[in-house]
Amino acid sequence: MRLFSKREKINKNRLPECVAFIIDGNGRWAQKRGLPRMLGHRAGIDAVKKIIDYAEEIGLKQILFYCFSTENWNRPKQEVDGLFELFREFVNKQAKEYLNRGFMFKLVGDKSKIPQDIVEKVEEIEEKTKDCQKMKVGLCINYGGKFDIINAVNNIIKDGQKEVDEDTFEKYLLTKDFKNPDLIIRTSGEQRISNFLLYQMAYSELYFTHTFWPDFDRKCLDLAIIDYQKRNRRFGAIKE
Ligand code: IPE
Ligand code: IPE
Ligand code: MG
Repeated sequence: MRLFSKREKINKNRLPECVAFIIDGNGRWAQKRGLPRMLGHRAGIDAVKKIIDYAEEIGLKQILFYCFSTENWNRPKQEVDGLFELFREFVNKQAKEYLNRGFMFKLVGDKSKIPQDIVEKVEEIEEKTKDCQKMKVGLCINYGGKFDIINAVNNIIKDGQKEVDEDTFEKYLLTKDFKNPDLIIRTSGEQRISNFLLYQMAYSELYFTHTFWPDFDRKCLDLAIIDYQKRNRRFGAIKE
């Protein structure tokens, strides 16, 4: 039975410019099915691919996926290794075709602790796709909001700057190629930020859903965008 006789549609003229996803719930998705956690992560990567396809279809311009946090190193080595194997596969197979699709690809995170072969591949793709305009796709891997801010401050000091304004500071952040997200979506029912884009989310709209990430599909994204489009973004001013 359908709950709504007429499904609301997203307004393609008022899309959020940048959407960031906290892709949570892979482990519980697998657990619910009696499967190993790694199969949940694999299903999670499939969901990422499908959301990228749908984002392209509806005309989103910038999307970011939080795939591995600076705190996720605290997981068992087997799971961490398995995750990096999946990222390796993604970068080798998926990201490679981005040039043909006109996507700019970026790995957003502290590259110093990511396996060297992945970083090399990523940098090759980043270089090749740097002028692509259709859509920007960022994978946040070994990303931490606190790291991002401290790293920016250290680079500002190294550059000998005595004082910076917001525009300059943002150029030192790992997300410098992306707009600050208009919409941040977290799946799995958790209502926290888990060290994601701490500075960049100053005025982001937050959307939480109980759906586990591997089940997050185009309809779920529609619902999130419809919800976003009903909000009155005031940025501290008085409107309507
Ligand atoms: C999100 O799924 C993916 C990563 C953090 C790598 P989880 O692995 O956190 O799944 P849950 O939260 O345990 O269900
Ligand atoms: C947040 O998920 C990080 C990513 C989705 C990569 P976690 O599962 O690691 O977050 P916590 O531990 O529930 O806060
Ligand atoms: Mg989790």
